[in-house]
Amino acid sequence: MARRKKIYEGKAKILYEGPEPGTLVQYFKDDATAFNAEKHDVIDGKGVLNNRLSEFFMTGLNNIGVPTHFIRRLNMREQLVRACEIIPLEVVVRNFAAGSMSRRLGIDEGTPLPRPIVEYYFKDDKLGDPLVTEEHIAAFGWASQQDLDDMVSLALRVNDFLSGVMMAVGIRLVDFKIEIGRVYDGDFQRLIVADEISPDSCRLWDLQTGQRLDKDVFRRDLGDLSDAYTEVARRLGVMPKNAATATKPHLIN
Ligand code: TMP
Repeated sequence: MARRKKIYEGKAKILYEGPEPGTLVQYFKDDATAFNAEKHDVIDGKGVLNNRLSEFFMTGLNNIGVPTHFIRRLNMREQLVRACEIIPLEVVVRNFAAGSMSRRLGIDEGTPLPRPIVEYYFKDDKLGDPLVTEEHIAAFGWASQQDLDDMVSLALRVNDFLSGVMMAVGIRLVDFKIEIGRVYDGDFQRLIVADEISPDSCRLWDLQTGQRLDKDVFRRDLGDLSDAYTEVARRLGVMPKNAATATKPHLIN
């Protein structure tokens, strides 16, 4: 059988050519990295959990009219997505201070912010994904002023949706990162949510205990990452208990 064509390999996912023009297959790996891949580990079952969780969030967004790249899940580790031109920015929305914002501005982690704050980071591993302003984005042509308006509106809609979904299962959405892509419908271009939405790209704190249920568990050595993600999936009713550990790669290949 001919090997399918690999389009791109990142730290946590691989993109393959899709079955039809304009589609890609997004494969979720078990690799976890932090601090620009200085820290790396393989967490059995993480890819399976993130595939399911990203499916859950993207399907919900599609259903409320927020366009995403997600078409359908194909199997335990793969989903079919719409191909798009990724805008080279990480769009972060913060509801509470944490992580780099707390470090940069000296605000205690967990401090509520007066309103959601949208930030942009230029996607460039060599530079360590630096924080950039709308001025940089417009001046260097990474996105137009119209794109920026659309990106803020998409990011805030994702924030409202995700905050509500997480709050319903006793989890605080502290912050998250999305990536946005451009698609062309005839002569028109529009922006859609791409990449993934998972505990790799969000900060999720238990509402009662403050327990971390996201990649900070790995970044800060706070415990078992797979247990944390399984707990998120369990609360959302996304996967039966132990499904991730029951489908370790050697068992599903
Ligand atoms: P930060 O506080 O480290 O800037 O992270 C903000 C949010 O963005 C947090 O939810 C984690 C997420 N994030 C990523 O998804 N990828 C990254 O490379 C980084 C640095 C953060």
